[in-house]
Amino acid sequence: MPVSTQDVAEQKEEFPLPKATFAEKVISVEHYTDRLFKFRITRPASFRFRSGEFVMIGLPSEGKPLFRAYSIASPSWDEEIEFFSIKVPGGPLTEHLQKIQPGDTIWMRQKSTGTLVMDALTPAKNLYMISTGTGIAPFASVMRDPEAYENFDKVILTHTCREVAELQYGVDTVALTKEDLLVGEEAKEKLIHFTSTTREDSAQNGRITNLIEDGTLAKVTGLPDLNPETDRVMICGSMAMINDLKVLLEARGFEEGANSKPADFVIERAFVD
Ligand code: A2P
Repeated sequence: MPVSTQDVAEQKEEFPLPKATFAEKVISVEHYTDRLFKFRITRPASFRFRSGEFVMIGLPSEGKPLFRAYSIASPSWDEEIEFFSIKVPGGPLTEHLQKIQPGDTIWMRQKSTGTLVMDALTPAKNLYMISTGTGIAPFASVMRDPEAYENFDKVILTHTCREVAELQYGVDTVALTKEDLLVGEEAKEKLIHFTSTTREDSAQNGRITNLIEDGTLAKVTGLPDLNPETDRVMICGSMAMINDLKVLLEARGFEEGANSKPADFVIERAFVD
């Protein structure tokens, strides 16, 4: 249908693409619980990022640009971009984002950044990726990166949520990783997935901090207690968990690293909450 110049002008005024922003298409959406969903979007050919980084995303339909930081959950070699999101009732972005359908447009800033990258850690034997809630997202990226298995003998993903249903994205993604053509064989041998819940019974109950302190994590994984000589740690999730875990690690002699100064552990909060 022909569009009048007036329509075009109105549309441009309402939905102008901000500078340094890609307009991408939603490919698929999967809802896990009434609070959690995953979605995949097209990847612009020129978009480069390191596994574990985050990027700002937004929706064009909301008039004025409203962007939020999201960890990229897919690895840097993937042709699509994956995100894992919480749905916040009344949340300025997630309230609308949770309704997206395949074919809808998502805005994504052209630059990604972040500290949960292998470059920010010094070489060691084991890589621990410790997450709560949607904090698993950057690790869904790192665990599908061949470099994780080149650099480390074991890659340990821990995921703690309130309820069992909230662990499902991690369970599915680990299963996909182990079947992946690129990293599947290595992941089967090296990737360990440890889950726990805090408000519903499951194989392991309790906060990850307590499960490290009381030796449960070491017992279940069959690995020695966390130690800066052999282990590197990435942490993502609730602020309270990050703060407690940082204290725990520093008490054991771990030093916090950054892109500019790689060391023993790195942290990032799960953004949208
Ligand atoms: P809990 O149920 O005991 O609060 P949230 O959904 O609030 O973001 O929390 C995600 C998970 O992180 C929950 O299982 C929660 O446990 C856990 N958690 C919250 N605070 C801490 C903390 N200070 N240390 C370790 N785990 C925590």
